[in-house]
Parts: sequence; C-alpha cells; structure tokens
Amino acid sequence: MVREEALLPTYNRAPITIVAGEGCELIDDRGRRYLDCIAGIAVCVLGHAHPAIADAVAQQARKLVHASNLYYHEPSGSLARELVSRAGMHGAFFCNSGTEANEAAIKLARKSAYRRGETQRNAILACTGSFHGRTLGALAATANDRYQEGFGPLPAGFTFVPFNDVAALEEAIDEKVAALIVEPVQGESGVHVADTQFLAAARRLCDERGALLIFDEIQCGMGRTGSLFAFEQFGVRPDLVTLAKALANGLPIGALLANERAAGGFAPGDHGSTFGGSPIPCAAALAHLRVRDALDLDARVRARSAQIFGALARLAAVNPGVLGTPRGLGLLIGVPVIEPNQAQAIAAAARERGLLIGTAAGNTLRFAPPLIISEEEIDRAASLLQAAVGPR
Ligand SMILES: Cc1ncc(COP(=O)(O)O)c(C=O)c1O
Repeated sequence: MVREEALLPTYNRAPITIVAGEGCELIDDRGRRYLDCIAGIAVCVLGHAHPAIADAVAQQARKLVHASNLYYHEPSGSLARELVSRAGMHGAFFCNSGTEANEAAIKLARKSAYRRGETQRNAILACTGSFHGRTLGALAATANDRYQEGFGPLPAGFTFVPFNDVAALEEAIDEKVAALIVEPVQGESGVHVADTQFLAAARRLCDERGALLIFDEIQCGMGRTGSLFAFEQFGVRPDLVTLAKALANGLPIGALLANERAAGGFAPGDHGSTFGGSPIPCAAALAHLRVRDALDLDARVRARSAQIFGALARLAAVNPGVLGTPRGLGLLIGVPVIEPNQAQAIAAAARERGLLIGTAAGNTLRFAPPLIISEEEIDRAASLLQAAVGPR
C-alpha cells in the first residue's frame, strides 16, 4: 500500500490504494474489488473507465490539449452551447473545480450590482449547513466553523440564514444583498433537501428585492436527483447555477451558467482562468452528455432511487437503534447513524467487506453511487451494508 509521506496531511484517507476502476467497481493494489457507492464523491456518474469518456479524452489529447482562453476552441464553445440551452440560461464560464465556480458566481453577483450602479449591494447571503468550497470566498459562504477556523480574516460581506426558514429569508434579503446562494440538496451537511416553498420564496424575494439567486448544484446537479439540473425537481429557476464534480465524469472542470440578466455583469478582463474550460475536460463533458441522453439516465435514476430508498428503509427497520430513516433525492442519499460517532466506523466496516460509502456531517452515511448502478448492485450494496452494521 502507498503511504505517501510527501503529501500534506489534508485528508483522512482510508488505508487502501486504488489502482483501477471498472463500471461501479474500484480495484485496489491487491486486486480487491469494491462496489463503489460514493463515486469519487458524486463525480463518476457513468462509473469508472467508461469507454466513451476514455475515447473522447484520447482523441482530444491527440488533437489539442491546451490553447488558453486567448482563443476560441471547439470543445468549450460546444459545451457552453449544450449547457446553456439545456439549462435555459444565457452564458457559461468554465473553471476547474466547484469552489472556483462558486467564486465566479460570487464575483459575478457583486460585479453585476456594481455595473447597475448599486455599489452598496455586495452582501452574499448563504444558508446554515451550507458547503460551497475551500477557497476563501466560497469558504466565507460555508457555514462550518471547523472549516473556517484559523483561516481568517475571510472576505467580508457574508451572512447566513437558517436553511428552509422562509420567515428568516423574508427578514434577511434587503437592498444590500447581491445574491443568495443555496444548495437545492445540501450534501456535506448530511444530505438535507430544500423545501420547495423555501426555494420558491427565495425566487420571489430575490426578484422583488433585486438580488440574484444562485443554486450551487455542484454535488446535486448533473442528473443526480433524476433530472439534469436539480432545480428542475423544484420548478424554481435560479439566475446563476454552479456545476463541477460530475460534469466531465471525473476530469477536473467547473462551470457557472448565468441567465441574461446576470450575464451582463462580466466584461472582458473581469475574471479568468488559465486552464478553465480546456479542451480535454470539455470533450469529456460533451461525451458524458451524449451518453446520458442515449441511456435515458433520468428514468434509470428514478427507478434505482426508489429501490435504494426501499432497501435502506428496510435496513433501518431491522437495525433499530443503529440506522435511521434515509433522506435525500434521487441517488444522493443520507442515512443517519443513531449510535453517536459511529458513521466512520460503519463506513470502514463496509469498506472491509467490499462496499465504499461516504460519510457526511451529523453522523451520517452518504450514498452517491454512479447513476448507472444496476438493480443487482444495489441489492449487493444493501447486503454488504447489513453485514457492516451487524456485530462489528
Ligand atoms: C455543494 C458543493 N459546493 C462546492 C463544492 C466544492 O467543490 P470542489 O471540491 O470541486 O472545489 C462541493 C464539494 O464537495 C460541494 O459539495
């Protein structure tokens, strides 16, 4: 096993070394196969080593790897067109990660108010339980003291409103607020789904009071909830939506999509990234979109979601005092662990039995499997989890 002392210790890595992947399985350096129900934290929606992604990457690598944003190139133009037309948006900005997509959204919201002459409108409102990333701006919008501790001073102008509290939102959105940023399904805080009334009130109040509405769909977007964009599940369209993780099925890319009203905030020179929207991740993202269309992935996600919710509810029923009722949407699911501080131990016991699952805040197990997961694989995951929560 690789224990790489030269890596800075920013992660709590599990003691296995992954060398390959195939479909919904990962393979370690001893040849052990694991059923992957976390998919690189909601990234590999088409599973591992998908031939269409591998071909798109290889073909693009032979043609053009990098040209910079000094010029146009075909993959980023095509991907921008695909995404804005599917989202009903106006323009896209590409970067390399989720946190950068949120930085772009925050900057665009502020610049857009500034360009309209509203120079006092620069506050960013976020929700309790939020996670928007680790760079300083996105971190300032992340309601987690543990992640912020010791990194101050953080950028000013960020405040929080209780998640799903419409009355608090009524109070909080005033003439200083440039944007409200919300995850339609909060992942890191333990998988909590926004109420439709909360998102609808957010839309109404932002419109009435001149703020922009940003949906962070970095974890819950790209098909994970059973539609390409999570906002489709709620019938509420934001002004800005941020994407990353699953967009290119594992290649690093982030995107900010903006409607016409918001898009006017950026002019040449306002924002940029050397690698943002480079040809290989864009080609992979285009291949991902083609595969998801051909597979009718949304219908599959809805069917597998019903199955996994059923299986997890049965496990909760037969393991009272250990597992709680599953919550979430589509194939982003949290299972609260009732015994205090046992989520990590259960995830480790599952891993030893060949099942990879994640954890999230609040002593929660997190399931975010590839969206191509089969009926048989979900049955297998449920029996492996049962074995893991048995006597440990
Ligand atoms: C909702 C949400 N926003 C932003 C991020 C940050 O994305 P990245 O790790 O690609 O910077 C994450 C990552 O987990 C996320 O779940």
